[in-house]
Amino acid sequence: MSAKKRIAILPGDGIGREVIPQAVAVMQATGAAVEITEFDWSAERYLKDGVTVPPDGFAMLGRDFDAILVGAFGDPRVKTNIHAKEILLGMRFKMDLYANVRPVRLMDASLCPLKGIEPKDIDFVVVRENTEGVYTDAGGVFKQGTADEVAIQEDINTRKGVERIIRYAFEYCERHKKQDGSPRRRVLMCDKSNAMTHAGGLWQRVFKEVGQEYPQFTTEHLYVDALCMQMVRDPRAFDVIVTNNMFGDIITDLAAGMQGGLGMAASGNIHPGKTSMFEPVHGSAPPIAGKDIANPFGAILTAAMMLNHLGLASEAEKIEAAVLEAVRQKRTTQDIGGALGTREAGEWIVNFVRRG
Ligand code: NAD
Ligand code: IPM
Ligand code: MN
Repeated sequence: MSAKKRIAILPGDGIGREVIPQAVAVMQATGAAVEITEFDWSAERYLKDGVTVPPDGFAMLGRDFDAILVGAFGDPRVKTNIHAKEILLGMRFKMDLYANVRPVRLMDASLCPLKGIEPKDIDFVVVRENTEGVYTDAGGVFKQGTADEVAIQEDINTRKGVERIIRYAFEYCERHKKQDGSPRRRVLMCDKSNAMTHAGGLWQRVFKEVGQEYPQFTTEHLYVDALCMQMVRDPRAFDVIVTNNMFGDIITDLAAGMQGGLGMAASGNIHPGKTSMFEPVHGSAPPIAGKDIANPFGAILTAAMMLNHLGLASEAEKIEAAVLEAVRQKRTTQDIGGALGTREAGEWIVNFVRRG
């Protein structure tokens, strides 16, 4: 491995192309020893030459890079969304990035729509299974277009897949502290085992088994519907949440809403020991794309998460401190109460990081 961390950048579509350049500039402002290579995999490229992922693209990413930073995929001109499926879900599945880690942290009380909630009240993480569930595309459509049409979407849950994500959640609990320095103590498994009995039964059994290997942590369970209610009633209840692919997708948009919206949420798609991929939780946001109003902080915090993962903790810390200060001083885009454009907000962070 070279001394510099080799980072592949895939801005993708829509606001991904606006926020990722800001995240890259901020990363470079920290002085982090990184070497950046940009790829044009996107709707634009697909519309031009029909290529979503070039031959051996995933093997190349895994071989030649230490990490991947992604913007978003989704373009109204590609109705099938085939490129997003092949590039984004392709990376998650084919590179086996089984742990989708989505930290939920409130930086300032003004960002939370809930009454009486302070930053210390929202500091949890969702560990989402990222390679199975209803996302595998198993199923099919029969008698399409007739009155007898049948659509089947299978929910795949393997013993191996469920066990490794649950174990990852306990390990995360062990390795990560809360923002205030206190230890994480609780792992909550979220499912819908009262209705989805086959898959839920497996998750229940494995959670109980693996939990016994970590007696130092409290284990908890909530059905996903009850969890949604609880999240808006009292987010203090959460520490580490582990759940399946689809529930993890849904509850992390809800959770993003409590930390200031989709523009503030970061995520990592991780396979320990392999080249992992980092992306903001938001998508390409077509209605606001190209207007220089998208919030770049989700992407910038994602870059910090990636640097942390690569062992560049002090650079990551500088970035997080700068974003926190921008939020406090309202040097932000409009969605979180400021008056800056995407570029200005990014430049403010760059300057703060350079000065610090
Ligand atoms: P979205 O996250 O793109 O945006 C929903 C809305 O949230 C936007 O219209 C905007 O009002 C707001 N928003 C999102 N990000 C913001 C930001 N950084 N700053 C300010 N406001 C922001 O979700 P969607 O509209 O459901 O999806 C749009 C497209 O993106 C679809 O094609 C979808 O499949 C795709 N998508 C891709 C990813 C990904 O690549 N990781 C993730 C989610 C959605
Ligand atoms: C996300 C997105 C994706 C998902 C879509 C674009 C397939 O919503 O990363 O949260 O559902 O995982
Ligand atoms: Mn989502």
